[in-house]
Amino acid sequence: MKPELGVCYYPEHWPEDMWAEDAARMVETGLTWVRIGEFAWSRMEPTPGVLHFDWLDRAIETLGAAGLKVVLGTPTATPPRWMLEKHPDMLAVDEQGNPRKFGSRRHYCFSHQGYVQESVRIAQIMGERYGRNAHVAAWQIDNEYGCHDTTVSYSPVALQAFQLWLREQYGSIQALNEAWGNIFWSMEYGDFDQIDLPNLTVTEPNPAHVLAFRRFSSDQVVAYNKAQVDVLRELTDAPLLHNYMGRVLDFDHFKVGEDLDIATWDSYPIGFLSDRLEADEAHKTAFLQQGDPDMQAFHHDLYRAVGRGRWWVMEQQPGPVNWAPYNPAPLPGMVRLWSLEAVAHGAEVVSYFRWRQAPFAQEQMHAGLLTPNNSPAPALTEAKQTADLLSGLGDVVQKQADVAILFDYASDWAWATQPQGAGFDYFRLVFSAYRALRRAGLSVDFVSPTDIPKAGYKIILAPGLATMGGDLQRDLTQGCDLAIVGPRSGAITHDFQIQQARPGLNGMDCDVELVESLPPSVHRNVEGGGAAQHWVDRISGTSPCLIRFADGNPALLGENGLWYLAGFPDEQLWDRVIDMAGRETGVRLRPLPNGLRRRETATHEFLINYNAQPVAWNGQVVDACGVVVLKKETPEEG
Ligand code: GAL
Repeated sequence: MKPELGVCYYPEHWPEDMWAEDAARMVETGLTWVRIGEFAWSRMEPTPGVLHFDWLDRAIETLGAAGLKVVLGTPTATPPRWMLEKHPDMLAVDEQGNPRKFGSRRHYCFSHQGYVQESVRIAQIMGERYGRNAHVAAWQIDNEYGCHDTTVSYSPVALQAFQLWLREQYGSIQALNEAWGNIFWSMEYGDFDQIDLPNLTVTEPNPAHVLAFRRFSSDQVVAYNKAQVDVLRELTDAPLLHNYMGRVLDFDHFKVGEDLDIATWDSYPIGFLSDRLEADEAHKTAFLQQGDPDMQAFHHDLYRAVGRGRWWVMEQQPGPVNWAPYNPAPLPGMVRLWSLEAVAHGAEVVSYFRWRQAPFAQEQMHAGLLTPNNSPAPALTEAKQTADLLSGLGDVVQKQADVAILFDYASDWAWATQPQGAGFDYFRLVFSAYRALRRAGLSVDFVSPTDIPKAGYKIILAPGLATMGGDLQRDLTQGCDLAIVGPRSGAITHDFQIQQARPGLNGMDCDVELVESLPPSVHRNVEGGGAAQHWVDRISGTSPCLIRFADGNPALLGENGLWYLAGFPDEQLWDRVIDMAGRETGVRLRPLPNGLRRRETATHEFLINYNAQPVAWNGQVVDACGVVVLKKETPEEG
């Protein structure tokens, strides 16, 4: 597959006489895709039922005639103001009970059936008009589900839908009371219609109640997306996709992804480093203008799994953004580096956000490939360079990695519901595992809990899996030579009760006697170097102890292809565990210098240097913010 480049464009923001020149310049830059339409509802339908698509017809025609392939967005992330006159109760409601008002975007509640129908209606109108248009080569549904904390809504319509959902899940109110342990504090219900949403309680609500609500909220996103998928499937053969976000975990992306053809995501490396990553100041300073060396790759690999192999970057940061606490510019070379890194991980398309910086409204300080006055911004040159490099690269063919991480959205909801220690966060734990694999020079795949390939991997890491049913244990152990679980694995049931007889893992004798959470300053050292932080499981069992805490308790225990890790490892402990796992399974590690990362495909090896200085490794010198691409003389099977 030959990777391509694209750009996000808003014809409705610019006079029509600029469109043809814009399209020609896009083509000149080497771009082949252009995404449009996803926020333009008020121009498509200025008043209810009055449709104005002539401008969009002309925009698509102009872009298509220049040779660009169009991704057309359904505009449902931005319901126009008149929609509120029709559906005053469609607004999402925050945890404090306040409606999230009109005046930005994503102000709808996923449970509002009136709005679902409006979304289906506009998708149908667009599908009928453009479903067979030769220039429209893909469809984006909505925009960034869950962004701006919009998955969960505490609205009256969400309440009604939740009660119905609970009825279907539990059948009888007695079963629900039992499953949730509602006898505790006399919380038993007499009927489903007495159950409220889990906000504004005096002290914390029952975690079983919260987790059920989180599952319900995720299901609402899946259903909402599917409603538009169903109508578009009838009207087009073009692939359907959605653009996910970075570290937004509030809905199950694997489930949404099942209904779509391609997963795409929006990559803002510098914004993410400053607004959503735990890291010390030295790290944040060293990578201030490059972004974290693992954050983008983590999402590339995760969304490759969500898209069952097919994925894009739909929005690539091109310069300073407007929304992080501080917004420095990328160092020269970084836009090219991010683009090539995505290609290394299998992106079919990397599309920049946005073509020209808007001089108005919320994102006027957000860079584009062009400045508001139409001059080239620094990223334009790097986009062009990337296009030139890609044309010499040939096909980039992916192959299955030796190592995978099992990623489970519901575990994030569970541990966010009852963290038990302020430092315990599912993403943070999984990301620390991912970083360790990448420090060891490994390429990594992700797998979903319900779709673990049989006997595919040498090692699967499954840290922090809240619930581990029998099927999952079987699939996990059958899916690899060595599975590493823990800490806090299999700790609770589906209904958030303590899983007794834990971890109950086949073939290994290991029991968890007590658990502790620790403040950030406290580390529990292990013999031989390294420590656990944030969380410790005190485990015992007859299986061999592979690493021990300084106090004598097992830190890593296991046999028969299954190891239990009894704490949240710091970097050194992770490195030791990965090293032992490599030796156990014959996976070759290639430890890398800080900030240098490596990705291997069937056809190429990529060395990616996030440092602001050149790095030498394995006979190669990689420039500051540079990428070395080595073509394999004998490509492997993809
Ligand atoms: C994304 C969003 C875009 C734009 C961009 C700015 O989250 O999808 O519409 O707002 O951020 O960085």
